[in-house]
Amino acid sequence: MRIYDLRSDTFTKPTEAMRKAMYEAEVGDDVYGEDPTVNKLQEMAEEITGKEKALLISSGCMGNLIPMMIKGGRGKEILTSSCSHIVNHEIGAIASISGTLPVIVPSDKGIMKADDVEASIHGYSYDMSETSMIETENTTSGIVYPIAELRKIKEVSERHGLWTHLDGARIFNASVESGISVREYAATADDITFCLSKGLGAPAFSILASDSDFIEKAKRCKKILGGGMRQSGIIAAAGIYALENNIERLKSDHEHRAAISEALAAASWADVEISSTNMIFFSSAYPIDRIISAMRKSGILMLSEGRLGRIVLSLNISDEDTDDIVSLIGTIDEGELCG
Ligand SMILES: Cc1ncc(COP(=O)(O)O)c(C=O)c1O
Repeated sequence: MRIYDLRSDTFTKPTEAMRKAMYEAEVGDDVYGEDPTVNKLQEMAEEITGKEKALLISSGCMGNLIPMMIKGGRGKEILTSSCSHIVNHEIGAIASISGTLPVIVPSDKGIMKADDVEASIHGYSYDMSETSMIETENTTSGIVYPIAELRKIKEVSERHGLWTHLDGARIFNASVESGISVREYAATADDITFCLSKGLGAPAFSILASDSDFIEKAKRCKKILGGGMRQSGIIAAAGIYALENNIERLKSDHEHRAAISEALAAASWADVEISSTNMIFFSSAYPIDRIISAMRKSGILMLSEGRLGRIVLSLNISDEDTDDIVSLIGTIDEGELCG
């Protein structure tokens, strides 16, 4: 039986062409700044984000943690939403390593309004911790952040002398969906991190980009966190390949998501709650575990997040696979879900 892996876009595997680029990569010691492939990837990221400097880092979690180590810190507050990755999926690094206090701003599925952000800021006072940073996430649960709101949040941040960090793990999905460039999104924040290892299909690594002073400090944090990597050009070559070849194709992941979301909407056992870019979240009257196991029996792997079922599209799935997945969803027997 063919297995379709819709658990996450992190399950992508390097293609032949990407592996060839990795095999042929020129390398050097990146801790000394002497890996030409890493340097080329960082220059490409500077061009894409419009930031002065970019730094190759090992993961998206590191890309969120370093800004909090530099601009947050012990007892300082970061404003974020209850849906954010830093709050939910980073093993408490925000508290255990950076010591930054997350303050939850009300949001609609992760999209905060600038007015609510501003109302949540604590200035200097004898009995309150002080806000030092704002974090936005784009996409957030697959949803594209409206750029007008991001710009307003940046204005709020500047007015109060705060730092704005953008978790752009899936910023390329946001960009191909909205037609707004990554550079324009990056301009709504003081720093941006994005992942090469998700929809873009590289086996590892992320980028952190900002001004030179910030990136100089970030290099030291990267080393402290065990992220000083030597001949990392081998993997950076996959990142270059991904940026050159895998951005535009994200559109087809979004088309596949739309088709699968329609199939779920037509099924009596699923209520689609979020369907955007490459992600679907749905609820059900049936326990989500039963749905996951019925899907697995049909050859579809998926995950749950809280009470919701989660499906993520990536380059693992072709047009033909999508047609097959749509028909498989149609064959799931509601009787089986009753237990
Ligand atoms: C929004 C978001 N930020 C950050 C990360 C962390 O990325 P990594 O798994 O590379 O640490 C993820 C991973 O799924 C994510 O979805």
